[in-house]
Amino acid sequence: MKQGSVIIRGVGSYLPRKILTNHELASMVDTSDEWIRTRTGISQRHIADANEVCSDLAHMASKNALADAHLQTKDIDLLIVSTITHNMVFPSLAAILQAKLGLRNVMSFDINATCSGFLYALEIAAHLLQNGNSYRCALVVGSEKLSSIVDWEDRSTCVLFGDASGAFVLEYTPAEHVGILDTVLGADGSSPEKLYCGALQPTDVNTKHFMKMNGQEVFKNSIYWMRKSIEELLKRNHLKKTDVACLIPHQANLRIIQSLAQSLDFPMEHVFYNLDTVGNTSSASIPVAFAQAKSAHYFHSGDYIVLVAFGGGFTWGATLIKWP
Ligand code: ACO
Repeated sequence: MKQGSVIIRGVGSYLPRKILTNHELASMVDTSDEWIRTRTGISQRHIADANEVCSDLAHMASKNALADAHLQTKDIDLLIVSTITHNMVFPSLAAILQAKLGLRNVMSFDINATCSGFLYALEIAAHLLQNGNSYRCALVVGSEKLSSIVDWEDRSTCVLFGDASGAFVLEYTPAEHVGILDTVLGADGSSPEKLYCGALQPTDVNTKHFMKMNGQEVFKNSIYWMRKSIEELLKRNHLKKTDVACLIPHQANLRIIQSLAQSLDFPMEHVFYNLDTVGNTSSASIPVAFAQAKSAHYFHSGDYIVLVAFGGGFTWGATLIKWP
């Protein structure tokens, strides 16, 4: 294994122009702005146009991340995309994106670990950069058009989700103990009925498949597994909660984020959230929040940042970063 570290050289995000407010949702299903805001913390979400596919969102976020990194497409050696809402079974979104961006013929593939997928993808990319001889820079993207799998007649789910894409450019550096330091990941697939979206079978091509969720089970499990992931991550890196300058959680529900912070005894002033304006965007959630936190100077050189996620599967994870 090489010495050195993997740093986040650039970040980018993309939110579709169209905004769907809680008030507009209240004219579509039996809900209210007040119910949505008090139960979830969400006020609005961005919704892609009908002709805008998930790879279009990924394309925009990737271009923004490359610009932020001051790199060109020729510098990218590896492309990993996390998504559950690509509009084709194959080719992968990553393969489509490779061509859209005009990348060299680099290894490009998708992963599906739902809302934890971006942290899974970061872990894979960081190990390839750290240990492989063929890679120096990777583009890691989380992209979702969740509006395509939301049942717009189901008030218990349609108020939660939005469309977005976020991307990181990762780079290997010989410097030690900086960038992505460690990651804890896990999964438990024993209760898939608690959060799922059916697959399209050859026999039911005309059937629309929607996301289904047992909200309260997801709520409880998410807090439990995100807390455990953070505790394990800090313990094995000999860090205390007070060493963490910024916690960026998956943006599912403000009450989940507040309960998580409370269960860890972690101050909310150090937690970044943007779900009031974007809703839950699954694997785009963390890179979009991270890009906004970076623009808002929410963290500084030398700070420890923790990313934490939970999603369908169930899957979960936490990543420790030291900002260069
Ligand atoms: N507007 C008005 N009333 C509603 C709505 C709505 N949009 N949705 C549900 N209700 C009603 C219910 O019908 C129920 O009515 P009843 O008491 O007459 O039966 C009442 O509100 C309470 O419903 P609960 O489901 O108990 O509400 P809860 O407080 O649990 O909030 C919520 C629901 C927001 C979904 C919450 O459970 C939650 O956030 N769960 C986690 C969801 C999550 O994190 N998903 C993300 C993972 S998925 C992924 O990231 C891909």
